[in-house]
Amino acid sequence: MYHWTDYYDLTQQGLAGDSAFYEEYAKAANGEVLELGCGTGRVTIPLAKAGIHMTGLEISQEMLAKAVTKAEEAGGIEHLSFIQGDMRQFSLGKKFGLIMIPYRSFLHLLHIQEQLKALRCIREHLQPDGKLVFNVFVPHIKHLYEESEKLTLRGMYPLQDGQEVAMYDFTRYDYFQQLAEVTRSYERLDKNGKMQERVTGRFTLRYVFPAELHHLLRLAGFKVLERYGSFAKAPFDATSTEFIIVASPA
Ligand SMILES: C[S@@+](CC[C@H](N)C(=O)[O-])C[C@H]1O[C@@H](n2cnc3c(N)ncnc32)[C@H](O)[C@@H]1O
Repeated sequence: MYHWTDYYDLTQQGLAGDSAFYEEYAKAANGEVLELGCGTGRVTIPLAKAGIHMTGLEISQEMLAKAVTKAEEAGGIEHLSFIQGDMRQFSLGKKFGLIMIPYRSFLHLLHIQEQLKALRCIREHLQPDGKLVFNVFVPHIKHLYEESEKLTLRGMYPLQDGQEVAMYDFTRYDYFQQLAEVTRSYERLDKNGKMQERVTGRFTLRYVFPAELHHLLRLAGFKVLERYGSFAKAPFDATSTEFIIVASPA
């Protein structure tokens, strides 16, 4: 029996180069580092292991429990704390040198008011010389006219014992609200391809256009310092599929 978080860790390994990118900013930060939507600690734990003073904030108790277990298993990590909380409304009583939101977690905020609440909260938790770094995918204009529902096989992932996991997303788009409602299913198949288990979960993302994000950041009192189209720091341009932003309090 596997849990949602086991399937999450098996299939959600980040974007090419994202961990190294965030590590660079974390090491350069003049103060402690806070990760919002830290999940099961994919980014948080290795950074803490590398000696960075880390706090991970996560809304899901299940994800957080897995992060704590993984950190305990890694052993000997100092300066790491996990907090159950909501990035739209948190008060940690201290300020950070860097606040990061890797792996598009910002898109879990489904209304402009929620996005602004989170950004204003982040601003209050940043030192004057602190930075906010995060990434979101670039919505493809094709989404605005292609079919409003689709089922996609996202990938096949081998388990050690010869079994494998198929990950499917059924996505419904609400173009007016800019929402993608995703029903994700993990199907575990034995060596003969016979399904042993299906675990399903739902989440909704609000996709954000780059210009929209600039306005939101300005409204929340930030200035954009850097922007990239890849974690190798390619310039952001019309071909970019990812939008990576480095901002600071204005
Ligand atoms: C795509 S995962 C990213 C996990 C981790 N940062 C990583 O890079 O692997 C998004 C995470 O954001 C969390 N999340 C969603 N809404 C949140 C909120 N309002 N406050 C805090 N965490 C939230 C989800 O529970 C999920 O664990």
